[in-house]
Amino acid sequence: MRRSQYPCSVGRFYITTPIYYVTDAPHVGTAYSTINADALARYHRLAGDEVLFLTGTDEHGQKVADTAEANGVTPQEWTDRTSQRFRDAWTMLNISNDDFIRTTEDRHAESVQKFLTAIYENGYIYKGVYTGMYCVSCEDYYTSESLNEGLCPIHRRPVVEMEEENWFFRLSAFEDRLLEYFTSHPGFTTPETKRNEALAFIKGGLQDISITRTSISWGIPVPWDSAHVFYVWYDALINYLTAIGYGRDDAEVDKWWPHVTHLIGKEIIRFHSVWWPAMCMAAGIEPPAHVQVHGWLLVGGQKLGKSMGASGAVKLTDIAPKTLVDEFGVDALRYFLLRDTPLGTDGEFSIEALTSRYNSDLANNLGNLVARVATVVASKCDGVGPAPSASSPLATEAADALSGARAAWENFQPHLALERTWRLIGAANAYLETHAPWKMEPGAEVDQVMGDALEAIRVVTLLIAPAMPATADAIWSRIGLDGSPTDVGLDAAAWGAYPGGRAVVKGDPLFPRIKSDA
Ligand code: MSP
Repeated sequence: MRRSQYPCSVGRFYITTPIYYVTDAPHVGTAYSTINADALARYHRLAGDEVLFLTGTDEHGQKVADTAEANGVTPQEWTDRTSQRFRDAWTMLNISNDDFIRTTEDRHAESVQKFLTAIYENGYIYKGVYTGMYCVSCEDYYTSESLNEGLCPIHRRPVVEMEEENWFFRLSAFEDRLLEYFTSHPGFTTPETKRNEALAFIKGGLQDISITRTSISWGIPVPWDSAHVFYVWYDALINYLTAIGYGRDDAEVDKWWPHVTHLIGKEIIRFHSVWWPAMCMAAGIEPPAHVQVHGWLLVGGQKLGKSMGASGAVKLTDIAPKTLVDEFGVDALRYFLLRDTPLGTDGEFSIEALTSRYNSDLANNLGNLVARVATVVASKCDGVGPAPSASSPLATEAADALSGARAAWENFQPHLALERTWRLIGAANAYLETHAPWKMEPGAEVDQVMGDALEAIRVVTLLIAPAMPATADAIWSRIGLDGSPTDVGLDAAAWGAYPGGRAVVKGDPLFPRIKSDA
């Protein structure tokens, strides 16, 4: 049994991304969230867990209704068109989601209505009048104190004063129960700094929240009051339950809900770590097991490289993943996003940093290891890979990399998992330097060195598969193995399984060096 501090690793792993607003095109920031979730899902599949990976689009609310109107189409037409952009982007980035949810689907309306009716019947929803300053971009109310010079603190746009007769959720009734949940589930929100943020918010006192709107019709109708639709955030959070059949298939809910991890950006902690567990308590189900928070990718106003075909200061939201994929390849972008910015902290996105990691980690280390081994096997071993030796010094390095990488993936630290993996790549390259098999005569000695190097590559290939699935498949077949690393899984990563006697293919460079503009 693998160790983990989270309740999500008892053989099942349900991972979700935030559902993305269809008002923005997919960009590097949303790709960061989705690629991290994908790598975690792929890791857990490789480790033998049963996995459910959910992403999707958040399609209701005033912002969408306004955008559709500005574009002269109905909200439904607008969301049909724009939701597809996310599906296409995720296909391009080799995202392995098992389901893609749209909040305009019938299954979602059904779950939302059942979930909120349960809260209503449990006595936690009442009618009142709400007055507040509303930011349409956030789809959220602000108090006057939380505004920044009268503007929304996140979007720095004017807010509008709104007064509505609404249905309210009695969030204030859950203060003590939430504090108790945080105490009894110390790993509920990670990392620790973000847990403290959520706790501080609860300790600061919780106000009831207005959960319906009469001012718009683009939303899910309130079953007990047809003049209202649910407020978009209320409908959105429930997507995580819709996808596992809430209100339709209790067995599926029981199967997956105890194993859920919500991967979210830091600006939506309050919704996921305060509102959402309280809503679950009010509806009579367990709060989500785990919320893993990540930071933001930022662009420090630097210029795009000339090769990117643009110049001038850029915002992160201007950088389409496709542009980067065309320039660097899917797996290089995935690797960079996973390796460079640990989950939980902010990171700086730059073409220079991407180019530099590409050249050092991918071209010089991984690519070079695979290329030089294939070259020597071709010239000294007739192109047939020899079997490894049990007592190789690389065996210890491989075992360390395997246990270190596993622990890091289990603890939601893809950057560390990759760092551990790259230590093995470094050790294998150093082993080749030390033994210089290219200077040896064909025979037992060169066979032993090359067998060990091939086995190290085989282990590396298994370890990079969650982050760089296409590269892993390509290397696997270059060293003569059948199928894909995902067919055998991490249990096959113990030292010594490279069978030998397989044709090793040289192929084109996996990561041709990129000239830096700097
Ligand atoms: N629709 C809501 C989420 C509802 S979940 C029940 C929403 N959508 S969003 O499209 O605005 O943003 C979703 C997520 O995109 C953020 O939480 C974050 O995960 C990711 N990111 C958006 N910009 C980002 C960066 N600049 N950097 C990293 N992640 C970013 O909020």
